[in-house]
Amino acid sequence: MKTVAVVGSQWGDEGKGKIVDLLAADADVIVRFQGGNNAAHTLVVNGEKFILRLVPAGALHAGKVCVIGNGTVVDPIALVEEIDNLKRRNHLKDDALLRLSYGAHMVMPYHRAIDRAREARLGKSAIGTTGFGIGPAYEDKMSRTGLRFDDLSSFATFKEKLERNISEKNLYLKAVLKAKPVNSAEIVEQMRKVRTRLMRYLGDTSVFLADAIAAGKRVLFEGAHGVMLDIDHGTYPYVTSSNCGASAVFGGAGVAPGKLDGVLGIGKAYATRVGGGPFPSEIQGKLGDTLRIEGDEFGSATGRPRRIGWYDAVLARHAARLNGMWGLALTKLDVLTGIDPLKICVAYELRGTRYDEIPPGRHLLEKVKPVYEELPGWREDITQMRSLAELPASARRYLERIGQLGGVKLAMVGVGAAREATIVIENPFLV
Ligand code: IMP
Repeated sequence: MKTVAVVGSQWGDEGKGKIVDLLAADADVIVRFQGGNNAAHTLVVNGEKFILRLVPAGALHAGKVCVIGNGTVVDPIALVEEIDNLKRRNHLKDDALLRLSYGAHMVMPYHRAIDRAREARLGKSAIGTTGFGIGPAYEDKMSRTGLRFDDLSSFATFKEKLERNISEKNLYLKAVLKAKPVNSAEIVEQMRKVRTRLMRYLGDTSVFLADAIAAGKRVLFEGAHGVMLDIDHGTYPYVTSSNCGASAVFGGAGVAPGKLDGVLGIGKAYATRVGGGPFPSEIQGKLGDTLRIEGDEFGSATGRPRRIGWYDAVLARHAARLNGMWGLALTKLDVLTGIDPLKICVAYELRGTRYDEIPPGRHLLEKVKPVYEELPGWREDITQMRSLAELPASARRYLERIGQLGGVKLAMVGVGAAREATIVIENPFLV
C-alpha cells in the first residue's frame, strides 16, 4: 500500500507515536489531519525520549516531509516551541521539511482560558479536557469566527479580527464564566512574533499531497486520540472535539477518499483513558495501580494518572467497523507479563440482555456490566522477542483471541517502548 492511515482504536494513548515513527521509516510524507496539542505522541529513539504534540512523528527521520493539515487546530506558540525543541535536538533542520496548511485554525490563549474556566465551573461533571483550548477553537471554526493561518498574510487584517475576537471572548470570560480576561496587547505581540517564525511553513497542503500521491510517494496519515474520543462515534460528551478516525483524513488533509489505501488501527494490550466518562472494563484497586506503574500510564500531555482497564473487544469491533481496518497493531504486550489470569471483555450485559456491540444510546455504556473471558498469562520476559514464534504460547493465544474477537488481523505487536521493540508481522507499506 502507498497511502496508510494510523488511527487509535481506544481512548488515545495506544502508542500510536511509536508505530507512526516505525512506519515513517518507509514513508516519504507524514501527515497530521485532526486534533491539536491535546495529542502527545511519545517516542523513544536511541534511548532518547521525545514527546511530539503537533509535529508529525516523521520529524525524527531525516529527509521526511511532515505536514500539518487543515483539519488540525494549532496553538502557534506551542508549535514554535516544539519546532525549536526539535531543532535544538538536531531534527527538522531544513524548513522545507515542515508544511503547515494555511487552512488550519489557530488555538488562541482565550481558547485555553475558556476551556479551563468552563471545566472549573463544571466541577464533578467536568469532561476532564487537557485544558489546551481544543474544544473552544473548534467551536470558533464551526461558527466561522476562527482565525486561520491564512489570516496571517496581512497582519493588519489579522490584528483587527483578533482584537474583535478578544473583546467578545473577554466579555464571555468575565460575565459568564467569572474568569480573568486575557490581555489583548500581549496576545497581539505574541502573534506578531509567531508570524515571523511560521509564515515560511505555510502553503496549500492539499495540493502538495495530491502531487505527492500522484508521483507515487508513500504517505502516512497520523491520527491523534482514538475512536472512543471521536466527536461522533465516541463516548459523547466525554470526547474530544474532532473526528478521530480514518474518515477525518479526507476533510482534514484535503485528500480524496479513493486515495487512501488502508487503515492500521492501534490498540493497547489493555485499555486506558484519561478524563471522565464511561469505561466498562475499568479495573479498580491494586491491579490497576500495578498496571499504571508498569505501563507508565500517566498522561504525556498533562501528567494525569490514566484510568486502567482490561482489553475491550466490543469497542475494538466498533473501531474496526468504523475504520475498515486492514490490520491492528497491538502495543505494550510486555506490560501484561506476570499478570495471571488475563481478562478480555467480550460483550456487555445490561438488565439480563447480552450485547456484542455498544448498546444503542451511549448513556447505556455507563450502566453495562462487562462479560469477561479469562486467559492464562505468562511470566517470561518478552521484551527482546522479535517474532511471534518466540513468544510464550499463552501470549500467542492472547493475541490470537484479540484478533478473532475484533475481526481484524494482527499486523504488529509492541513488546517495549523502543522503536525496535516491535514484532512486525506485516508492514502495511510493504504489502
Ligand atoms: P480535549 O481534547 O482537551 O478537549 O479533551 C477531551 C477529552 O479527550 C478528555 O477526556 C481528554 O483527556 C481526552 N484526550 C484528548 N486528547 C487525548 C489524547 O491524545 N490521549 C488521551 N486522551 C485525550
